[in-house]
This record gives sequence, C-alpha cells and structure tokens, in this order.
Amino acid sequence: MALDGAVTRAAFSEAEIAERVRGLGDEIARDYVGLEPVLVGILKGTFVFMADLVRAITMPLLVDFMAISRYGPTAQTKGVVRILKDLDVSITGRHVLFVEDIIDTGMTLHYILRTLSARRPASLKVCTLLDVPRRRLVELPIAYRGFTMENGFLVGYGLDFRERYRNLPYLGLLDERLLRPPSASEQVPPSGGA
Ligand code: IMP
Ligand code: MG
Repeated sequence: MALDGAVTRAAFSEAEIAERVRGLGDEIARDYVGLEPVLVGILKGTFVFMADLVRAITMPLLVDFMAISRYGPTAQTKGVVRILKDLDVSITGRHVLFVEDIIDTGMTLHYILRTLSARRPASLKVCTLLDVPRRRLVELPIAYRGFTMENGFLVGYGLDFRERYRNLPYLGLLDERLLRPPSASEQVPPSGGA
C-alpha cells in the first residue's frame, strides 16, 4: 500500500495478524463454551480487530460497541472519559469480553472497566490486540493478548494517528518525528476517537 512516508515499516504484517487473531479466536471459543459472551469494543480503534476476531470465534456471541471521548491529552485528564454512545445490550448477568486495540497507560480501560463492572456482569475479561506493558500506569488483568510491544507508536488495522491510517491492512510504526507535541499554532482542541 502506498504511503506518504510517515509509516517507517510494518511491525506486524497482515499474515502475522491473521494467524494471531485465529489463535485468539480458538482460545476464546474454548473458554466460553455455552456462555454466549458479549464482546464489547470501543469505537473507533477496535472496529477492524473486532470484525476479524468475531469471525474467528466459531460459537454464538453478541457484539456491541461504545464510543467515548477523552477530556484532554494531558497526564492529569488522560484517564477521564465521557461515554458518547453507550451499549445497546444489557450486560447484567452476562459474560463480557472487553476488546481493546491497544493498552498503553491503561487509564482509559481502567475507567471503563469500573463503569462496566458496576453493571454486574457475570464475568468481565479483557482481550487486547496490543499490549505495551512498559507504558502502563495502572495494573490491569489481561486475559487474551495478541502482541506485546516495547515501544513505538503503531498505526493501521484500525489504529490511527490523528484519524489517519486506520485502513492500513497491517500494523505500521509511525515516524517518531511526528509525535513531538504540536506547536501552539497547530494546537487542536481535545476530541474523541479512541
Ligand atoms: P491508554 O489509556 O494510554 O491505555 O490509551 C489507550 C488508547 O490510546 C488506545 O485505545 C488508542 O486509542 C490510543 N493509543 C495508545 N497507543 C497507541 C498507539 O501506539 N497507536 C495508536 N493509538 C494508540
Ligand atoms: Mg482505542
């Protein structure tokens, strides 16, 4: 796929991702036999992973999505999220598998898991495509993990940098030079789009 040079290389290829997602699907199907789990994803980052994952889980399940907005990019406000679109289905008494694209500081997930567990699901587990344990600020239990990463900012396969690159079929490393804080004249207001 032609790029503008901002993606330096593929960290995980299409084939590697497909194989790993199949593996996760098998594991999940084995663990949830007869339980009809609800898979919950956050828009928009999880939409590609979710689409592949649910097709790799060959058993009855439900799929639902939430949309959230972060209040701001600073360290103090990073874990503060607002629910823009809540779940359509009730998760009370149901087995919930929360699906994430990437767990970085873990602040977003920490907040959402608290909100979801207050609804008294029968169980609540986490499946993430990518785990960056080095950047974690809060401890989180992760039941299913696609890949572990040391550092770098990934785009593609649903993950964005300022809303771009979600459609890359692989996970690419973004050029580090783009990650420097924007100068005052380029500053964008806080927005959603996890
Ligand atoms: P956390 O609250 O720091 O764990 O942030 C998690 C969210 O930040 C993810 O769901 C992504 O939306 C975004 N994010 C964190 N790291 C990356 C990355 O390397 N590439 C793209 N998005 C990322
Ligand atoms: Mg996300």
